[in-house]
Amino acid sequence: MKKDLKAVILAAGKGTRMKSKTPKVLHEIFNKPLIARVIEATNKTGSVENIVVIGHGGELVEKYLSQNYKNSTIVVQKEQLGTGHAVKTANEKLKNYKGNVLILCGDTPLIKKETLIDFVNFHNENNSDITVMSAVFDNPKGYGRIIRNKNDELEEIIEEKDADENVKKIKEVNAGVYCINWETSSIGIDEIKNNNAQKEYYITDIIKWGKINNKRVFPYTINDSDEIFGINSRENLAEAVQILRKRKLKELMDEGVTIVDTNTTYISPETQIEPDTIILPSVVIEGENKIGKNCKIGPFSHLRGDCTIEDNVKIGNFVELKKAHVKSRTNVCHLTYIGDSELGENVNIGAGTITANYDSRTKIKSKTIIENGASIGSNTVMVAPVTIGENALIGAGSIITKDVGANSLGLTRAPQKEIKNYINKGE
Ligand code: UD1
Ligand code: CA
Repeated sequence: MKKDLKAVILAAGKGTRMKSKTPKVLHEIFNKPLIARVIEATNKTGSVENIVVIGHGGELVEKYLSQNYKNSTIVVQKEQLGTGHAVKTANEKLKNYKGNVLILCGDTPLIKKETLIDFVNFHNENNSDITVMSAVFDNPKGYGRIIRNKNDELEEIIEEKDADENVKKIKEVNAGVYCINWETSSIGIDEIKNNNAQKEYYITDIIKWGKINNKRVFPYTINDSDEIFGINSRENLAEAVQILRKRKLKELMDEGVTIVDTNTTYISPETQIEPDTIILPSVVIEGENKIGKNCKIGPFSHLRGDCTIEDNVKIGNFVELKKAHVKSRTNVCHLTYIGDSELGENVNIGAGTITANYDSRTKIKSKTIIENGASIGSNTVMVAPVTIGENALIGAGSIITKDVGANSLGLTRAPQKEIKNYINKGE
């Protein structure tokens, strides 16, 4: 039975091993904080409110969330007494709530939205009271182990620190993602105690409570254990980038994009690319972008986000693009910076072109507009705001500070001098 859904995201842990002044969940993977990746996946499940439990460095997390994710509510857990205690704290905001609550961690940013949607659907279809996500790890060290009975039913979760040697051999682990029917089972959260090896309140004890109290308790096993990879250190952060990178490249190749060198290509998950586009080696694409079909990008191109590239475009060596709309059949092939710009169709940008979009004194960024068919000579600087009209031609080496009309030649080059026989004068 489909129910209203809210989420609780646990993010109060200190993240000591990051050795950072920045709270762990604000560290970024492909320019997006860990917590943002979790919230965006959670939002896709239809969660109407995300209650984020914060502690250490909480103000920064709170500020970030209030600016970026309006449906998030903050709860402060003053002392970190365990995951169960964190959920008890969130329960203050869920008094008398009768829907489902999805619980997950702020430091597992690789969870896919499709997986969370399937997980919540499974919970609803089975009319479950408590559903817990599990995964099988070759090396399960550190994780809570899933204990099943003879009928393969979930019995309880035992933490590594409370486990004996036999339990430690179990490879099925708790992913740390739960869906709980709050009407039937939130009382179980209130009853969690801290009588264990770590003297912590474990959210995992809700499983045992559910079994004792005849609730419907189900495990939901996922295939790809990478999805629940948790970030605890800088090394984990780098590993997570590689997992997301490979996942994205595979997705693009499956959809018909050629990736010439999968070892040196970085493409953010938020970039869309259409079939028959070729990505050459050492390309870095960050942020949100749309790239059309039959384009050639690279080698050594850097797209910094908010770029729309239409079909049949070439972006070449050492070209940096930011907030740029490049229309069909336009070439930007060498040593160029294009920022805050609109480039029309069939535009040619010569080598070494710069759009000077930023005034460092006023901090104002301005736009460069280059209309259809214009040709920009090599080593041109266009000082924004400026517009180059249709089919206009800019002479190489120009510094353009004023608009150039359609079909005109714009040129700021000093006339060439030639001093005859200069070498033989003996000066
Ligand atoms: C937890 C699970 C374990 C599971 C693993 C999956 C428990 C007791 N154990 O272990 O079974 O295999 O996750 O990754 O739940 N947090 C708070 N407040 C606290 C404590 C933790 O908000 O008082 C947050 C942390 O910031 C983190 C999450 O809860 O985001 C998980 O806490 P952590 O201490 O990392 O749990 P694990 O020992 O990894
Ligand atoms: Ca953890």
